[in-house]
Amino acid sequence: MRVGVFGAGYIGLVTGACLASLGHRVVVRDIVPARVEMLRAGQVPLYEPGLEDLLRQNRDRLTFTLDAAEALEGTEVAFVCVDTPPSASGDADLSRVWSVVAELGSAPELKALVVKSTVPVGTGEQIRGVLETSGLGHLGYASNPEFTAEGRAVRDFLRPDRVVIGAEETETARLVTALHEGIDAPVEVMGVASAEMVKLAANALLATKITFINEIAAVCERTGADVLEVARAVGLDHRLGPHFLNAGLGYGGSCFPKDSRALRAMASNSGHPFQLLSAVIEVNDLQPRRAVQRLKDRLGGLRGRRVALLGLTFKPDTDDMREAPSEVLAARLLAEGCEVTGWDPMARLPDREPWTTRVRRTKTVAEAAEDCDALVVVTEWAELRDVDWSDVAHRMRGRVLFDGRNTLDREELASQGFVCMAVGRAT
Ligand code: UGA
Repeated sequence: MRVGVFGAGYIGLVTGACLASLGHRVVVRDIVPARVEMLRAGQVPLYEPGLEDLLRQNRDRLTFTLDAAEALEGTEVAFVCVDTPPSASGDADLSRVWSVVAELGSAPELKALVVKSTVPVGTGEQIRGVLETSGLGHLGYASNPEFTAEGRAVRDFLRPDRVVIGAEETETARLVTALHEGIDAPVEVMGVASAEMVKLAANALLATKITFINEIAAVCERTGADVLEVARAVGLDHRLGPHFLNAGLGYGGSCFPKDSRALRAMASNSGHPFQLLSAVIEVNDLQPRRAVQRLKDRLGGLRGRRVALLGLTFKPDTDDMREAPSEVLAARLLAEGCEVTGWDPMARLPDREPWTTRVRRTKTVAEAAEDCDALVVVTEWAELRDVDWSDVAHRMRGRVLFDGRNTLDREELASQGFVCMAVGRAT
C-alpha cells in the first residue's frame, strides 16, 4: 500500500521505517527543512537503536518531503504522527494535528486518515465532524495508538503485545488491519473513543505501577525492608507481573508525565476528578525532591558541596531529556548552593534552560566525580557497569554514592570505600 506519514519525529520515523519494512511505500512529510534534508542525506535526527539501519535497509520504499501534496499523491492511508505537547492547562495541544487535517484537501486516492498521535478521547469524533463539513466525509477514520517505548521502539512496533485499531466503519478497520500484515500480534478492533482511551489508560496504569513501587520504597527505607526483594517477589504473582516495578527517582520522558496530566485534565473536564491519578502525579513530582532532601541529610547540608549527576536522560538508550528527573535534581541542587557536574553519553541538553548552563558536563564519569562530595546515579546507562570505581573514589573528596536506580553492586562499592545510598533499601 502507499502510505503518507505526517511528522518525522520520533513516532513518525519509527512508523514510516517499520511500515516500509513491511513492504509498504511510504512518504514521510515534515515541516522542518533541516530535518527533511538530514533524512534525505541518510542521517537520523534522533537516537533510537535500530532505526538508522531500518531506514537504510528500506530506503527504496521511503521518501522524505516538506510538501504535504507530495505526501498525499497516490496515497491510500495518511498517518498523523505529529506531537501533541501539553498546553499550560495540562490539556494536550492539538494544533499540529489540526494543521494536518486542514492539509488533506485534494487527495483522490486517499481512503483513510489514521491518527497515531496521543489525543484526548473525543478528538476522533471532532476530526470526523471537520472532515464531514469540509467535503471529506467519504474518508475513513481510525485511531491507532502506539505503545512503543523509546530505546526499543522498532522492536515494540514490529513485535507488539497488541495492535489497537479504533474505527467506526468495518472497511476502515480492515484497511488498517491489512497495513499491519506481517506483524504477529492480536489486533483489537474497537470504537474510536475506546482506542483513544486505551492509550491514556495504559500509560496511566504504568505510571501508577512505578509510583506505587516508589511509595513502597519510601516505606522500605523507614522500616528495614528491601524494595528489590519486595518487588521481585510481588512481581512473581502473575496477576501483578514483574514489569515497571523498578523504584527510582520518578518517571520522566515525553509520555507518562504528559499523558497522565492530559488524562487528569480530561477526566476533570468530563465531570469526574481522577483522584488516584492526581496522587500519582503529585507523588512523582515529589520523588526527585525527596532524593535531594535525603542527600542533604546525609551530607549535613548542601551549600558549597559538589555533586555529580551520572546519567541525565530520562532513561538509558535515548538522547531525550524531556521531563528527565535529572533536571529537577540539578535545579534543586544548584538552588541549594551546590556545584553540579553531569555525565551522560548521549543527552541532548536543552540550551534555553538556565540549569543546563550551570551544570558542567563531562565526557567521563571520572571527570564528573573529580573533587565531588557525592555522586548520584540518575539514569542506569550500561556504561556505568564498566566504570573503574576505585579510580573514581580516589578522585573524590567525599565518598557518598546515591544509586537512584538501584543498579550498581553496592557490596563492591562499599569495599572501595563508598558510602552507598539507594532507593528503598537500608543504607
Ligand atoms: C512509555 C511507555 O512505556 C510506552 O508503552 C508508550 O508507548 C510510550 O510511553 C508513549 O506513550 O509513547 P517511554 O516513555 O519511552 O515509553 O519509556 P518507559 O520505558 O516506559 O519509561 C518511562 C519512565 O519510567 C522512565 O523515566 C523510566 O526510568 C521510568 N521507569 C520505568 C521507572 O522508574 N521504573 C520502571 O520500572 C519502569
